[in-house]
Parts: sequence; structure tokens; C-alpha cells
Amino acid sequence: MSARSAIRRAVALGVGSALPSRILTNEELAKTVDTTHDWIVERTGIHQRHIAAEGQMTSDLATDAARAALTMAGMDVGDIDLIVLATATPDQTFPATATRVQHNLGMSHGCAFDVQAVCSGFVYALTVAAQFIETGKARGALVIGAETFSRILDWSDRSTCVLFGDGAGAVVLRGEDGTGTTADRGVLSTELRSDGQHNASLYVDGGPSTTGVAGHLRMNGREVFKHAVRNLAEIGEAALAGAGLTADDVTWVIPHQANARIITSTAQKIGIPMEQVIVTVQDHANTSAASIPLAMDVAVRDGRIKPGDLLLLEAMGGGFTWGGATIRW
Ligand code: ACO
Repeated sequence: MSARSAIRRAVALGVGSALPSRILTNEELAKTVDTTHDWIVERTGIHQRHIAAEGQMTSDLATDAARAALTMAGMDVGDIDLIVLATATPDQTFPATATRVQHNLGMSHGCAFDVQAVCSGFVYALTVAAQFIETGKARGALVIGAETFSRILDWSDRSTCVLFGDGAGAVVLRGEDGTGTTADRGVLSTELRSDGQHNASLYVDGGPSTTGVAGHLRMNGREVFKHAVRNLAEIGEAALAGAGLTADDVTWVIPHQANARIITSTAQKIGIPMEQVIVTVQDHANTSAASIPLAMDVAVRDGRIKPGDLLLLEAMGGGFTWGGATIRW
């Protein structure tokens, strides 16, 4: 029997997260917009969200999450030569928020840049970072999803302002040699998709080259919902197939946390029981690119995710963009 040749894997060694201390409950929101706790819970599963303080930037949350992930990994910035940060709410139009995080971490080597794929951003960033590591372009990477969506919400629009929150999550990847089988630790497969014809279903009505101001999030919720379950199930199955795995191999699904109904329907479609799905949408609401690493951090730290577990990630967001990944923890 011939041995498989060693291949480079991007192995996840640490995860961290950061949430603003201010919690905004549904009850509090119901005092300022025409909504109720019951409506929000029934339609979305959301009970509360965290809101960034005045002056607290996406880069601040990202930096805290990155530090926590480095600590868990037992690594420091000397081991990192790549930062890929996914956000739709950067500190500034330019430069990239990733470069501010790089500076905050006391790092002036390697490279740092942002990826913009809205709620799919973390899976996009993970894909890019894994490619850098697998090809030998980077040795260690920080993959971060960080958002301050509270800054782009129209707080008078009840159909959107109840859905989102602020936060950040980060994962540390390091290149290690694997055997080329699905028993290897690390990122085993990634799949990305986009279809720009759906711009009008979910977008921000501003930007540097249109209005010159940041603008507010606009969404046709029903239209997004219609595509979400189909796209998420398709990409989850594609990520599994890409690694030569099936739903039976999955230990935990870590879905983008937008809506409990979308999470449940997608798991059902892929054929994975809810007992194996990490759900944090009740506590964080939709934190866009931050939602998957935030959920991952919760489940690693509470002991649900253990070394050797097979994780399936799936996300969808504005664009539309969608993506999936499998990781052996
Ligand atoms: N409180 C009370 N009533 C509300 C609220 C609110 N916060 N928001 C909307 N309504 C009302 C509407 O005005 C409407 O009233 P009407 O029938 O008198 O016109 C009624 O509730 C139903 O509105 P719908 O939009 O049809 O409600 P739906 O059941 O579709 O739920 C929701 C809305 C929760 C936004 C849902 O469509 C959804 O979750 N869509 C997916 C959106 C999403 O997750 N986006 C995140 C970004 S993309 C992603 O991450 C996948």
C-alpha cells in the first residue's frame, strides 16, 4: 500500500471573541420601535444583541478577539505573518481595518487586508487564509470576523434594526503537515459562491462612490429568507463533498447566526439533528462576519467542541454571497 504524500494543512489552534459590554434586549428595543419581544423571538429566535460603545470601533473588537485567540493557541504575533479580516463595517473607507488590528497587536511584518463578503465574510476570509498557508505563502494566520452593524442600521426601521448586533471573533491558523486524509486536523475543504443579481434584496444605501456617506442597511427579508435555506444547504453539502465527507461525519455545524428558523431548516435539509448545531443567535443576534467565529468560541470554551471534532461551517449574506467549509478541530 503506497503512503499518501504529506500535504500542508491550515490547522486551527485557537479561537477568541469580543463583545461590547452594552446589551440591548428586545424589551428595550420595543420602547423605541413598534415591535414586541414575542414577535422578534417567534420570527428570529433573537433575545438580545450587544451594541458597541461610542468610540468603540470594529478594530477594537477585532483586536480583543485576536488576542484571545492567540492566547488560546499559545502563540504570539511573531508566529503570525497574515491577517485576513472580514467586515462590512470597517473603521474607515481605507485603509483596511486589518492594518489597524496589525498595528494594535504591535506587528509590522507580514501582510494584513480586509475581505468584504458581508455575512459570508468569515468563510471567505478563512478560505483565503487557508490557501496562503496551504501554498506556503504564510506560516501562521489570524482570520477575523468583526462588525459594528449598529452603526449602519436605520434604528427607525423595525424590519431590520431588531436583527443585528456587534461583535468579533478570531481564529488562529498554523501550517502543519498532514497525511492528506480527512483524519488530518485543519481546514479540509472550502466552497464559495456569489450571485450579484440579488444586490437589491440586501444592501447598504450609501458608500464612497455613490452617496459619499456610509448609509443604512436595507433588506427584503422575505426574499433573503427564500434563498437562504436553499443556498446554505447546497453549500454545506458541497463543502462536505469537497472533502469526501457526508453528513454522518459531522460532529458540529456552526452556521451563520442570522435567524433560528433559517438555521433549523438548513440543518434539516442537510440531514443533521439540531443537537449537533451550535446556536448563539439568541444572545448575539446577527453579527454578520463575526457570527461564526463568535459561535465557535462559545462552543470551544464551554467544552462542546473537542480536538478531533469535524466542524461544518455555512454562511450566506448580501451580494448574495455564500460559503461553506469543513474543519477538523
Ligand atoms: N416587529 C413587529 N412586526 C414586524 C417587525 C417587527 N420587528 N418587522 C416586520 N414586521 C411586520 C411587517 O411589517 C409585516 O406586517 P404586515 O403583514 O402588516 O405588512 C409582518 O410583520 C410580516 O413581515 P414579513 O417581513 O413578511 O415577516 P417575516 O415572517 O418574513 O419575518 C424576517 C421577517 C424575520 C426579517 C424574515 O423575513 C427573515 O428572517 N428573513 C431573513 C433575513 C435575514 O436573516 N437577514 C440577515 C442577513 S442575510 C443572512 O444573514 C442570511
